[in-house]
Amino acid sequence: MSFDVDALLAELDLDAKARLLAGQDVWSLPGLPRIGLRSVVLSDGPVGVRGVRWSPDDPSVTLPSPTALAASWDPRLAVRAGRLLAQEARRKGVHVLLAPTVNLQRSPLGGRHFECYSEDPLLTGMIGAGYVTGVQDGGVAVTVKHFVANDFETERFTADVHLSERALRELYLAPFELIVRRAKPWGIMAAYNSVNGTTMTQHDELLNGVLRDEWGFDGFIVSDWLAARDTVASANGGLDVAMPGPRTVFGEQLAEAVRGGEVDEDVVDEMVRRVLLLAHRTGALGGGPTPWQSTVDGEAIAREIAHRSFVLLSNETGVLPLRAPQSIALIGALAADPKILGGGSATVFPEHIVSPLDGLRKAVPPSTDLAFAIGADPRTTLPPATDNFRLRATAKAADGTRLAEFPLREAKINWIGELPRGLDLATLASVEIEGTYLPERSGTHTFAVTGPGDLRLTVAGQTLFDGVNLPEGGDVFTSIMQVIEQRREVELTAGELVDVSLTYWIPSEMAEFARGTFAWVTFALGHRGPVLDPDAALDEAVALAGKSDVAVVVVGTTAEVESEGFDRTSLALPGRQDELVRRVAAANPNTVVVVNAGSPVELPWRDDVAAVLLTWFPGQAGGDALADVLFGREEPGGRLPTTWPAKLEDAPVTDVTPEEGVLEYGEGVYIGYSAYAKTETQPAYWFGHGLGYTTWVYEELDVYPDDEGGARVRVRVRNSGTRKGREVVQLYLAPTERGDRPPRWLVGFASVEAGPGESVESDIVVPPRSAEVWRDGWRHIAGEYVLEASHSYAQPRLSTRVVLQKIR
Ligand code: BGC
Repeated sequence: MSFDVDALLAELDLDAKARLLAGQDVWSLPGLPRIGLRSVVLSDGPVGVRGVRWSPDDPSVTLPSPTALAASWDPRLAVRAGRLLAQEARRKGVHVLLAPTVNLQRSPLGGRHFECYSEDPLLTGMIGAGYVTGVQDGGVAVTVKHFVANDFETERFTADVHLSERALRELYLAPFELIVRRAKPWGIMAAYNSVNGTTMTQHDELLNGVLRDEWGFDGFIVSDWLAARDTVASANGGLDVAMPGPRTVFGEQLAEAVRGGEVDEDVVDEMVRRVLLLAHRTGALGGGPTPWQSTVDGEAIAREIAHRSFVLLSNETGVLPLRAPQSIALIGALAADPKILGGGSATVFPEHIVSPLDGLRKAVPPSTDLAFAIGADPRTTLPPATDNFRLRATAKAADGTRLAEFPLREAKINWIGELPRGLDLATLASVEIEGTYLPERSGTHTFAVTGPGDLRLTVAGQTLFDGVNLPEGGDVFTSIMQVIEQRREVELTAGELVDVSLTYWIPSEMAEFARGTFAWVTFALGHRGPVLDPDAALDEAVALAGKSDVAVVVVGTTAEVESEGFDRTSLALPGRQDELVRRVAAANPNTVVVVNAGSPVELPWRDDVAAVLLTWFPGQAGGDALADVLFGREEPGGRLPTTWPAKLEDAPVTDVTPEEGVLEYGEGVYIGYSAYAKTETQPAYWFGHGLGYTTWVYEELDVYPDDEGGARVRVRVRNSGTRKGREVVQLYLAPTERGDRPPRWLVGFASVEAGPGESVESDIVVPPRSAEVWRDGWRHIAGEYVLEASHSYAQPRLSTRVVLQKIR
């Protein structure tokens, strides 16, 4: 379809133009039928497409967490993930996916670590470029985020990151640059934080200077939600669109600024051109989206990415894959109620979840007996009340008038962004979850309330809680994402119906914060029936492990540990999970530990168990993929995209807390593996580590330097085991003269597949940038290097000397 942007622009007056740059609501831009422009819809991202409703009644295919995707070390798999997401976006009428997140895993404490790809900029950029290509293949735009240096959550709205130009260029900008140059993204999201004194939504030097002029980025730049603060500085600083709406710094205020001579109308025209180009690219302008045939099977790709991402950290005794054991003890609360995705804006709602328990039940051979025990329960919030509860929600005005009533499947209200039809923020004052509960068992029942603000809980006529529930400090997002729970116990009798009611009053600060437009009504009533006491639950699991052939213990983190809006403070597994693993391992030598965590956790017992398998947040099909890998139908294909410390104190960067508003990235270019190597600290597992079910011999390494200072590298590896498998060949470059450079760094990789006894070759391009450093500009450091073909950062298999120089 022809696209004459000048002709379209000529039809718009200043007010119409300014309006196009401000969200009309939380998730969309205004349409303008007169010029054939439909409303452009934006949605999170990155493991699924949530759509405009933040609610389980609009489910999405849920892929494994972004770090898991990166653990595949396979950009082609990322392309396929992107295509599925484009398909989902088109199904839901979404034009722009707010993803991928390509900030770096600078510290294991980073709250959104699970949402980032890697500690390494090249791996991050390559996976990100694949993802962007896949999404845009389907005619759906991305916003690569959060530009830039948003690698922590504490005080994220206001923190000013101070870092050297070199660290900025070589580390934090590098993935964005690679993606812009390689995949040509249609959008970028400007972060909340400042960089060296200027907030990112008005950072002229980085937005206009680096992104547009230097790298040739031609897409639109959107603010992170509520990140744009100043009309004039944002428009002149390079921002195109301010979200969410309808009250933003653009729109009317931008038109006023032009009339007042503070912003040139040409600047506004450029902003509008970019929004029209976005609409054109995504089919929101003119005739509609370009036809695109896609029939990606969501469940199948979710399952494939999951097993390709699982990292087999150890398998000393060769217990995996399991060989038809007579009995398996499956242990751990997360085996039945797994954590499949990280919290915060990355939340989507799968239609169904396959837990490890479901997956194993389906897959165990008929001759194998599978038994389950909770052992230890790390969850610090109870699941919403559902079985044997009959509940409804009643929305009320301040004077108690009933505004609307809704049936509830589970005792949870999550109205984020928009309220249900018929309600508005101006009149809604409280919501009550009310109904009855018929206990099946007599004994101590625990009820729990979550939700930021005033709550009152009554059960069987008794008021169990009546007060304020808010976390200390933190921003208002924190109070929503960092769930605080109040628990109360009550004795109930089986078969005796009781009344239940939980009322939530919407805090006025929330309404104010959201400028009266952004709904944030989220609270829940949790419930747990009578349970074994924690000691008895542990004893039961240990006894079960002791009489089984194999024990599979699923341990991990919870929503309260890994989410957006706050950083972590500890890498320890919550609750009594370490104790559980130790006791089970003592009772059964064939103990396999499955780690269900989005980012590094301490595994102090790692040398005392038969195998450790890391499954990340594995998405909706995680339980099936786990069964595939445990029983050997598939190989665990992942390699660590980030170095795992043995304990928090060993992690080189743990400072994620700004001081007086400033966070210094004082470590410069030394993060991740470079920092461990510099300080000679031995981590639990190095970057790139991961075992498969076969073995590999590295046979040949040939390097052909080019005139541009880079090289082409050919590596031949042979599958020396007895099963078909996949190897990720990793290339590292180590300068003979280090100077102030790290000892070695990743310069390329390829994933190859071969059957038993077969050899396979990979051809890897090492770009000239690999031998460049930033010193007031990119400088190529010619000279002698050692090029290593490795199984992981710490396991070079072949190496050769090479002289790199730039002749052209
Ligand atoms: C997050 C973004 C997200 C946006 C919209 C922000 O708080 O930082 O990553 O896309 O909300 O949900």
